[in-house]
Amino acid sequence: MNQPALEIDGLRKEYGDVTALDGVSLTVPEGSFFGLLGPNGAGKTTFISILVGLVRRSGGTARVFGHDVETDYQEARNAIGLAPQEFNVDRFFPIREVLEHKAGYHGIPAHEARKRADAVLEKVGIYDKRDTRFDWLSGGMKRRFLLARALITDPDLLILDEPSAGVDVQLRRDLWDLVTELNEQGTTILLTTHYIEEAERLCDEVAILDSGSVRAVATPDELKGRGADRIIVELRSPPASVPELLADDDRLESVELDGHQLEVTAHEGGLVAPELVRELDRAGLEIVDLEIARTSLEEIFVEMTRTDESDAGSDTQMTEAANEDDTNKRPNQPQLASDGGAQ
Ligand SMILES: Nc1ncnc2c1ncn2[C@@H]1O[C@H](COP(=O)(O)OP(=O)(O)OP(=O)(O)O)[C@@H](O)[C@H]1O
Ligand SMILES: [Mg+2]
Repeated sequence: MNQPALEIDGLRKEYGDVTALDGVSLTVPEGSFFGLLGPNGAGKTTFISILVGLVRRSGGTARVFGHDVETDYQEARNAIGLAPQEFNVDRFFPIREVLEHKAGYHGIPAHEARKRADAVLEKVGIYDKRDTRFDWLSGGMKRRFLLARALITDPDLLILDEPSAGVDVQLRRDLWDLVTELNEQGTTILLTTHYIEEAERLCDEVAILDSGSVRAVATPDELKGRGADRIIVELRSPPASVPELLADDDRLESVELDGHQLEVTAHEGGLVAPELVRELDRAGLEIVDLEIARTSLEEIFVEMTRTDESDAGSDTQMTEAANEDDTNKRPNQPQLASDGGAQ
């Protein structure tokens, strides 16, 4: 049982002349909490859709706990619970029935399916809505329901595609608590998000995807370490000129002086600061105050993904969930087999 949750090698997807995935290789270890970050149109949903068999790959391989997503589809699919970005639910049936149907589709017997449906509805906090149809749930309850549906098969790999797009603070907190608990109990989690705070808080490791290619895979801390931090020092009296500081230290990027305030930009700011203090002391410059501002994951992200041409799909505004961009996409979410999709 030492198979990684995901083993992806050279995965490609072309939609006509649009290259959505341009040779993605990734390994997600079993038990990890893995983040997939990227601007609108980066290929995140396409990547996930290939894993669950909604989209056919154009090339490369993708394995879920060792099972190829196409040649070993049922095994791979049964290991995954997906809460998709778009709503794709049988709108006219009571939500408990939708869950029972989903469980049945995955081979869970009827008596067990009812028990599980009740348990997951309890878990996401909408048990009292069990007899309501999907259409009549509020937006936040719909998100909760998608999570319940993802959990009904007790999946080893839970995939959440933008789970907190457009949800209120309370739901986001509940969701974070719930997925953290599931991860602690051993469920591997793959999360796509535009909220950097979410990735920073939850993920052990993140991959940054841009224009269908992986730009980086690292822990949030490692990524932050790639950016330069700012050390802001308030001096008792302004020196006549910019002091010569940290001359031989290649972590240093720049030193700027503005009256009493000295701003030093350097990698590993936390380690550079004590050295800086000693040098200022030796130079006879008295320090009144010192502050270290670490680069945020968001700054690193914007830095890594801004080199693109100005095509419609390369918006780097992380805090803006998918919006206008969707209007120039064709519908890209084929319905799940278990969803009747009454329109
Ligand atoms: N069914 C489809 N037909 C044609 N092009 C598609 C289809 N689905 C996706 N695309 C294109 O593939 C690219 C990747 O889209 P995808 O939905 O995977 O991005 P994403 O990273 O999930 O973006 P978002 O953050 O907006 O959800 C985009 O250029 C998109 O327009
Ligand atoms: Mg998407």
